[in-house]
Amino acid sequence: MMKAIKAPRGTRDILPPDTALWNFVEAAVRDVFRAYNFQEIRTPIFESTELFARGVGEETDIVSKEMFTWEDRGRAESDKGQSLTLRPEATAGIVRAYIEHKMWDRGLNKFFCIGPMFRRERPQKGRYRQFYQIDAEVIGPASSGSDLPARDAEILEMLATLLHRLGITHWNLELNSVGSSQERVKFNEALRVALEPVKDKMCVDCQRRAVTNPLRVLDCKVPEDQPIIDKLPRITDFLEDESRKHFDAVQNILTKVGVPFSINTRLVRGLDYYTRTAFEFTHGALGAQNAILGGGRYDGLSEALGGPAAPGIGFAIGEDRLILSLQEKTPAEAVVRRPGVYVAPMAGMNADAAQLARELRRHDLVVELGDENFRLKKSFEAADKAGAKYILIVGENEVKADAFALKNLATGEQVQIGRAELAAWLKARIVP
Ligand code: HAM
Repeated sequence: MMKAIKAPRGTRDILPPDTALWNFVEAAVRDVFRAYNFQEIRTPIFESTELFARGVGEETDIVSKEMFTWEDRGRAESDKGQSLTLRPEATAGIVRAYIEHKMWDRGLNKFFCIGPMFRRERPQKGRYRQFYQIDAEVIGPASSGSDLPARDAEILEMLATLLHRLGITHWNLELNSVGSSQERVKFNEALRVALEPVKDKMCVDCQRRAVTNPLRVLDCKVPEDQPIIDKLPRITDFLEDESRKHFDAVQNILTKVGVPFSINTRLVRGLDYYTRTAFEFTHGALGAQNAILGGGRYDGLSEALGGPAAPGIGFAIGEDRLILSLQEKTPAEAVVRRPGVYVAPMAGMNADAAQLARELRRHDLVVELGDENFRLKKSFEAADKAGAKYILIVGENEVKADAFALKNLATGEQVQIGRAELAAWLKARIVP
């Protein structure tokens, strides 16, 4: 036998019935987002590498180590040599589209997208090389109010509403302000100074970060480094009036609307575009990869990508992780739609059975159709395997009488129902 080919490392197949759970989540997401007036946007899965270098930041782990990048060998001269990258996240692409289509002219400022992202990370539970994000962004000129703290609070409240709707409890919202870019320059400098005498006692990554991007030291997870990190300056001490007021206002609204949060002054996020509000929702049951979503404000991103001033805020939910935390309580079996009825044609009755199945499916019933070549025993087995609730036999007598025998596969109970009442009878007994 030839060697079988497997899915590449860090990718995985999402199979039925789990896909039903994914659809259940996405349907709830669309429903909740609609109530807040977000509209769907679909951007390309690959973009020019420069977009992420400029948007997410050259110094970040994502851009410096984790991108799937290649050089285009396209036929047209203009394509040749262009560096392209599978998107590691959605925000940069959405902001690019916002600028490219002058969305401010169309009054569009709230977007969401659902789709795969790609990062070359070391795979483990909850961490994949192809993973899925549910991403939402509010972006627009300051005149649209996109810079105001009420937007931050609204987004966080929307997330709390979504998690509640999905039945996900035990989450923790960690909130911080990473300040304006000027405030962060000062903070970075203070960190650099504070790290100078202690960095040699830290892990190799931190020794490098202490020089290239001291802020990233706060991300370090190495246990031995934690006592040192705990003594470093805190961003909150570097916030000036405007940023402090903004942060206070966000917290006031959250308290008023009843969204619990905790302040984590070490939360800096792994992307460079953030300003002021930054947040993560963690979930206890997920182990090491416990962030189910992350986001924040990115007031300078549009300008960094060659667009007009357009403050913005958004988040991305790690859909894979959201599903992991959901699976504890809601198994896929609870949301999958099994066939209500298995239509089993007797010999020579395929055409009549097809006609009947067509009628039933028009009434939004899930129907599995057998074949006239199957013996009755095989039809029953197939109906069982498919998880159908009823089996319906289509024979010559039934068609002549315009009435069909329906057998409940679990109880063995059998009833005779006229063709005209069939769909309504089944619908009344099948939970969608
Ligand atoms: P991020 O924190 O890099 O933010 O990713 C958001 C979420 O995506 C994480 O909290 C996690 O749940 C999930 N995630 C990230 N990497 C992986 C992976 N390798 N495997 C599975 N799940 C993963 C962003 O991407 C920003 N674009 C969010 C944002 C939107 N900020 C403003 N707007």
